[in-house]
Amino acid sequence: MASFKDRELLLSEKSQSESRIVTRSYQQRRRFSFLTTICTICFAASLGAFGIFVSMTFYDCMVEGNLETNATDTDFEAGDVVSNSPQCSSIPHTNRQDCWPQSGVVTQHKCEQKGCCWNPFYGNSPMLGGVPFCFYPSDYQGYTVTSVQKSDTGMKVMLRLQQPSGWPNDVQNVALDVTFDTAQRLSFKFFDPNNARYEVPVKVSRSTNHVTAANTEYNVDIPSQGRFYITVTRKSSGQVLFSTQGASPLVFADQFIQLGTQLSTKYIYGLGEHRAAFLVSTNWTKLAFWSRDQPPSRHSNLYGVHPFYLNIEEDHNAHGVFLLNSNAMEVEVQPAPALTYRTTGGVLDFFVFTGPTPDNVVQQYTELIGRPFMPPYWALGFHLCRWKYGGIDGMKKVIKRMRDAKMPFDTQWNDIDYMRKHLDWTYDTKTFNGLPDVVADLHQHGQHYIMIIDPGISNVQPSGSYPAYDDGLKMDIFIKKPDGSAPIIGTVWPGTTAFPDFFHPNSSAYWLQQAKAYHDMVPFDGIWIDMNEPSNFVAGSESGCPDNTLENPPFVPPVLLGGKLKDKTLCASAKQHISSHYNLHSLYGHSEAIATKSALDIIKGGNTRSIVISRSTYPSTGVHSGHWLGDNNAQWTDSYYSIPGILNFNLFGIPLVGADICGFNGNTNTELCTRWMQLGAFYPFMRNHNTFGTVDQDPAAFDQATQKIMRDALNLRYTLLPYLYTLFYRSHVDGLPVVRPLFFQYPVSDYNVTYMTDVQFMWGSALLITPTTSQNTYKGMGYLPKDRWYDWFNHSYIDSPGHYITFDLPMEHINLQVRGGSIIPLQSPNVTTTLARKNNFIIYAALDVSGSASGELYWDDGESMDSISSGSYNLLSFKLSKRVLTSSLVMGGYQSEPMILGQLYILGVEIGPTSVTANGKIIPPVDYTYINKMLVVHNLSENLLQPLQISWLV
Ligand SMILES: *[C@@H]1O[C@H](CO)[C@@H](O)[C@H](O)[C@H]1NC(C)=O
Ligand SMILES: *[C@@H]1O[C@H](CO)[C@@H](O)[C@H](O)[C@H]1NC(C)=O
Ligand SMILES: *[C@@H]1O[C@H](CO)[C@@H](O)[C@H](O)[C@H]1NC(C)=O
Ligand SMILES: *[C@@H]1O[C@H](CO)[C@@H](O)[C@H](O)[C@H]1NC(C)=O
Ligand SMILES: *[C@@H]1O[C@H](CO)[C@@H](O)[C@H](O)[C@H]1NC(C)=O
Repeated sequence: MASFKDRELLLSEKSQSESRIVTRSYQQRRRFSFLTTICTICFAASLGAFGIFVSMTFYDCMVEGNLETNATDTDFEAGDVVSNSPQCSSIPHTNRQDCWPQSGVVTQHKCEQKGCCWNPFYGNSPMLGGVPFCFYPSDYQGYTVTSVQKSDTGMKVMLRLQQPSGWPNDVQNVALDVTFDTAQRLSFKFFDPNNARYEVPVKVSRSTNHVTAANTEYNVDIPSQGRFYITVTRKSSGQVLFSTQGASPLVFADQFIQLGTQLSTKYIYGLGEHRAAFLVSTNWTKLAFWSRDQPPSRHSNLYGVHPFYLNIEEDHNAHGVFLLNSNAMEVEVQPAPALTYRTTGGVLDFFVFTGPTPDNVVQQYTELIGRPFMPPYWALGFHLCRWKYGGIDGMKKVIKRMRDAKMPFDTQWNDIDYMRKHLDWTYDTKTFNGLPDVVADLHQHGQHYIMIIDPGISNVQPSGSYPAYDDGLKMDIFIKKPDGSAPIIGTVWPGTTAFPDFFHPNSSAYWLQQAKAYHDMVPFDGIWIDMNEPSNFVAGSESGCPDNTLENPPFVPPVLLGGKLKDKTLCASAKQHISSHYNLHSLYGHSEAIATKSALDIIKGGNTRSIVISRSTYPSTGVHSGHWLGDNNAQWTDSYYSIPGILNFNLFGIPLVGADICGFNGNTNTELCTRWMQLGAFYPFMRNHNTFGTVDQDPAAFDQATQKIMRDALNLRYTLLPYLYTLFYRSHVDGLPVVRPLFFQYPVSDYNVTYMTDVQFMWGSALLITPTTSQNTYKGMGYLPKDRWYDWFNHSYIDSPGHYITFDLPMEHINLQVRGGSIIPLQSPNVTTTLARKNNFIIYAALDVSGSASGELYWDDGESMDSISSGSYNLLSFKLSKRVLTSSLVMGGYQSEPMILGQLYILGVEIGPTSVTANGKIIPPVDYTYINKMLVVHNLSENLLQPLQISWLV
């Protein structure tokens, strides 16, 4: 792994070598020997990223090589071989739209039969590695418009197919409904007007108060006849936000639906869950969407599915596009830049969000899919877990040493070893004898307890001995075999299992019943739902899967392992209450998260917040649950990839997210774990967790010096929690991300760096975190955007022109900068949030160049369900200008706990004060350090539940 500095340089070099918008006129032709080229390209490619699919191309190449006997003998001009009509040859390589995306042999004959252009291109430009050989001609007919019916708030368009797509069961007549949802949100949906098709059963808040065309920020252009296209532009700038022109044409067949769009620039983010840099590569990147139990690895479909992206425009505005579709899908991101959706079912239900700032895009997206839930305060504390504690004594030992070491520590977790024979809703009364007492002890210490639950329910326990299965059978809530005759049986940790169908109307009652019975024994505070892709150790089921079109669709996105949908999960044709698993698969975790959160809410009396952490997620899961990034490795690369992962989930409306700190699989080591604890202190969800058979990695397991560094990192996080909690409040009410990439704060200035930066990140708009994710690195470079930045530790400021600076990175150091202009609320830490939240508050004001700053504090009792809806909270607004700091109560609904300001830091005070007054009274003594230009007032005792004004004279 390159050091942080190297990676940044690499990125900036890359940006220089690729022009900002990839040239659309790349026509350069080179002479190649056909066979040599084929073998080189195909061999390299088959070793490469898209293993199985490219291997197919390898086979294709060889077949074509044999067919094109003339060409094998002589050199030829690539591009002149075939299909040299202007409709083919006018298309630059970068803009080719793949007409043969499926696996299997494509030949010139097959390609041209589909009405497409055949032109094997064997260029050697690295950007052209994925150039399709068989592509759509510029005049491809596809669908034409037969009617457009305009209304004040939208259009109804009818399309008719002009030529067979080549895919089975084309839909001849397709309807397109365009709705001006809100001024900033457009929706448009392609569907079959004659046959109802599956639509995603996730509730999104579609608007009922549509707006008229005159009141939107976008224009929609659809021709009234002739070849179909849709182009959405931004009214204020004319920038294209979505356009099928020059992109992959609409195909609407029963199991293959395709549509392409131009991208505004190659700066595109989102499209999860995948392991990659935050900036999505436009180098013919094929992303598969089909939830899968897959330890984070590159070029693989992972646990969750989020078909949402954010794209930057030429003039730095941002927009977002969401495709509400849950079928197995591929999104190909192309150098044009363009993007193609290829999905295997459902309808095309699109939403375009006009921003124009990146923050606005996320706000508009979460307004549709639902705002993130408000976590309890304790959920922001430190969580600790491991798989196989060695029974209750091992777990108690760790809890004790964490307490003895005075490590801030809020929540103890259990992985599956606490269960009896891995059976849900049981604990092993031998190895975990006394678990309820341990939980009671945690509660007495102001700590909390969370355990893992998997969806697979053992079906082989003696009848009458295991209610989780018996009740499920009785209530008939298990997913059925394809023929509907009985529960489908797979294999997970407990052995063979059935799987609750969380779309069954009685499944929440069933789940609540199990959770409640277990909570009566072990009063947990949250539930961790794992294995909910759903994971299955046998392909499909214990008795295999039938051979039908759901199991073997004509197109399968590049999902891992041979492109079979059933791999590591249930049969696609398994029956769920409302539809097939083929349609609902990627919603399994989402549906379980809803049932789990609802059970928790009821168990907690309907009045106390708790948390669910889910491995598999879908748009709107953030309303109910947080997420951790899955089974990572104790490797430096994994610590790096956690950052784009966390940035992405903040785009996806799931801000309570973190990676397993210090690594889950494999042995961690002191240096890695120390750096990772420092980085993890800035994960919104902070949990250290590892697997069995690996070295202990809880902070108290290390030597004294390391413990101190880790304790300092934890204390820093706990100090910042009032600010983090306030960011979660803003996320919950306004949809603002908690953790943000630099370009959210600096979308225009500094863009040439911030668009690519994904090692550094921000908390809200105030804190810039520059971690190190590489070994043996004691100096590193970090970018400081054009602004004033205060170093958290030495308090001095830099007025950055927008440049890299070199940081010292001694082991004990975290690079944390505060943006001038911010006021952040703090509290002294303690060993739990329960204790820390009783401490006095600290106001930390970092002045901007004009001597002003602002900020806010959200505060409530930390756990009531209805704090916000019932107005039982305080919202304090802080403003500082012209040497006067005012704190005012925007909302003062929570008066039952005092809020005392104990300390004040003001940074960037150029002239030392002669006196300081609080609400008119002089308050001695005051520290002012000339070197740091910092004014500190200790030992304050000001009531923040009243308006407060602090000022100083010079
Ligand atoms: C583009 O992808 C190909 C593999 O498909 C790879 O060989 C090449 O290095 C990539 N180019 C860039 C600029 O990332
Ligand atoms: C759900 O449970 C109720 C009461 O137990 C029962 O009447 C109803 O038929 C069940 N619904 C389904 C779809 O099985
Ligand atoms: C960013 O671009 C500006 C000019 O637009 C240039 O002066 C500056 O050096 C660039 N910064 C980096 C880090 O490349
Ligand atoms: C304070 O830290 C910054 C890095 O954030 C560094 O550039 C600066 O030299 C330090 N100042 C002092 C006085 O140590
Ligand atoms: C933590 O809380 C305990 C109990 O109130 C108190 O005795 C202790 O002084 C606190 N420690 C700190 C560092 O605030």
